[in-house]
Amino acid sequence: MMLLTSVIERVPGFTRFARQAAQAMHRAVLGAGEPARRAIDVLHGKWLGHPAHPLLTDLTIGGWSFGSLFDLAGLLTRSERTQRAGDALTGLGTAAAIPTALTGLADYSAIKRDAAPLAALHAIVNDVALTFYGLSLIARRQDRRGLATALSLLGFGWVTVGGYLGGELVFRKRVGVNHAPKPSGPGDWTAVMPASELVEHRPHRVEVEGAPVLLYRFGGTVYAIGAVCSHAGGPLEEGTFDGTCVQCPWHDSVFDVRDGRVVHGPATFPQPRYRARIENGQVEIQFVAEAL
Ligand code: FES
Repeated sequence: MMLLTSVIERVPGFTRFARQAAQAMHRAVLGAGEPARRAIDVLHGKWLGHPAHPLLTDLTIGGWSFGSLFDLAGLLTRSERTQRAGDALTGLGTAAAIPTALTGLADYSAIKRDAAPLAALHAIVNDVALTFYGLSLIARRQDRRGLATALSLLGFGWVTVGGYLGGELVFRKRVGVNHAPKPSGPGDWTAVMPASELVEHRPHRVEVEGAPVLLYRFGGTVYAIGAVCSHAGGPLEEGTFDGTCVQCPWHDSVFDVRDGRVVHGPATFPQPRYRARIENGQVEIQFVAEAL
């Protein structure tokens, strides 16, 4: 399998195609305005607090796997009830594959550059699996049970490879995991810079007890959140600021600097949050441990 993933990255043009396709999708979402962003936030899993895609893959793979088991048992036993159970489970898996694919596409549109080719391959392999399962459902309607089972088993083979590639994306490429450093910082109020140097609307990054912290002064109030974007590690101090919101420069996640919450994905994890104040001419911060 390692061979498969490294081979695909060497296929001429595939990496470029994978990255450009993701960028085009991302631009289309941003260009479609606020309603499209809200819709894709749902697909990313902002409501869930972590990516929604893995949750749905369980339904899809579970339905298909057990469907195949019941199909085989139905063939051996000639039990109509067992065959029907195989039909129902295969139908469930195929129905769940639609939202699963949509959540996957949403995540792909904002994928890290180094993970784009593997993510594209993951999508292609799973689409092949979906095609086999779709054909299997058609064969079931025609009561061609042997063919339906064979098509399901072929689909199962492909989705197994797709699942492996999904694991590679998470565990090797770190897609979908929280990239913000472990939330930490001073438990007591700690001076981090002279207040005179923190100019209104001009973000500043400081390192406090090993934690990168973004400082932002807006309307006379100082705000502080983790400076490393939870989606893929983008530097938030280089982002675009609008009111109390910062948009990440890498894939455009939006966070509220007042509390670190996600306003728009692709990020699904909030930023570490700090209290901030000006005391004796110094900007002071204190880590809010309960933020995450
Ligand atoms: S790194 Fe992807 S949105 Fe910030």
